[in-house]
Amino acid sequence: MRKEMIILLSLVIFSMFLLGCASNAPPPVPETKEPAQKAEVNALAIYHWWTSSSEASAVNALVDVFSKEYPNVAIMSAPVKGGNVDFHAVVLQPMVLNGEAPDSFQGHPGYEVKPYYDSETLETVDDIWASENLEEVIPKVIQDINKFKGNYYSIPIGIHRNNVVWYNKKLLDENGIDPTKLTDWDSFFAACDKLREAGIQDPIVQGEAWTAIHVFETILGSQGPQFYEDWMNGKITSADDPRMISALETFKRFLSYTNADSATVGWNDAVGRVIKGEGAFNVMGDWANGEFKIVGMKYNLDYGTFPVPGTTDEYIMSVDTFVRPRGTAHPTNSIRWLEVVASKAGQDAFNPKKGSISARIDSDISLYDDYQKAAIQDFKSVKYYFPSRGTGIPASYVSELNNIMSVFVEDKDSSKAAKAMAELTKQTSSDFITVWSFT
Ligand code: GAL
Repeated sequence: MRKEMIILLSLVIFSMFLLGCASNAPPPVPETKEPAQKAEVNALAIYHWWTSSSEASAVNALVDVFSKEYPNVAIMSAPVKGGNVDFHAVVLQPMVLNGEAPDSFQGHPGYEVKPYYDSETLETVDDIWASENLEEVIPKVIQDINKFKGNYYSIPIGIHRNNVVWYNKKLLDENGIDPTKLTDWDSFFAACDKLREAGIQDPIVQGEAWTAIHVFETILGSQGPQFYEDWMNGKITSADDPRMISALETFKRFLSYTNADSATVGWNDAVGRVIKGEGAFNVMGDWANGEFKIVGMKYNLDYGTFPVPGTTDEYIMSVDTFVRPRGTAHPTNSIRWLEVVASKAGQDAFNPKKGSISARIDSDISLYDDYQKAAIQDFKSVKYYFPSRGTGIPASYVSELNNIMSVFVEDKDSSKAAKAMAELTKQTSSDFITVWSFT
């Protein structure tokens, strides 16, 4: 009996021990319904169209500011060649619509990024404008073009001036040409005649298709603020508008002084020919300043600038910004990137190399060169702030304008181009929803 009792008692104690262990074991994990949240990879993917040597140097300096603050983030900075039109139409819009938006990408504010806003694929960045106190340091005219319906959807990194003539100082000095006198088109073209008589076959160096439109936009600016306002507001619907005909005739004269191979010359290669003294003038935004600078040329010593004739009181602005797409893979680093873009440190690392001026009024101007210091002053003193076409005109008009201008560069037919632009304005009239007022 005793033996049986001992065995029974042992069994009871062992069972209690098993129960005890069981009670310390955690409860069984319930089957979770939703998939486990994927941990956010510590990476950042940004897209831009900066591929020239100075553009690359500038964006790399901005990335370095980010990396110093967030050393463990794996960064992919993807440069896409070809400028803003193809950048959006061919690369970014398909990515975004496929739900593969990068964490941030470059764009001009306003109409250029409006397709993303309309398709609800952008996050507002009001929170970053507020946390970085940007309204205290970003000029009102720049604040306004970064909004849709009162909310911010882009962070400006820098302000470029489009209406700038760049010149090789040696060529002008050798031919007794005073650039300060070239304030109207007739005197500018007379200088081109003088250079051609001196054997400079191409007094003006012209680049690829989009740079022809760039020049044409500045010529439209030289027709005055009322015309530029009418153009931006889609009011030039007559093929016989004398101001448009005058602009096209001026462009025709301009093209008669340019290189025959312009269609195959990149914007930075055109600047390179002025740097080498193969041509005297190039009309380009002041991203050109970055190209003069990166090869060691000194402003007012080796090269110089003056406003496109007739536009001294105008800043035709190309504002570079970054946006915050919806549903990106790395939202934490997307916000961190935009905070760096907005920051004084970021802007003062980027703009001195880029050739632009900071979008902030508190930049350390000792970091900027003599051209940029003059541009900062001009930005404070000009009468008119014109947005460039990427910001100011619907994308449906701008993309077709490229084709009209490419034809004009070939056939120089002003009435044909004026008719085509008037028709285009009528066809896209419903897209002109912003009402610009410059006068
Ligand atoms: C402009 C842009 C500038 C410059 C230029 C040439 O549209 O705003 O930053 O890079 O294109 O690529």
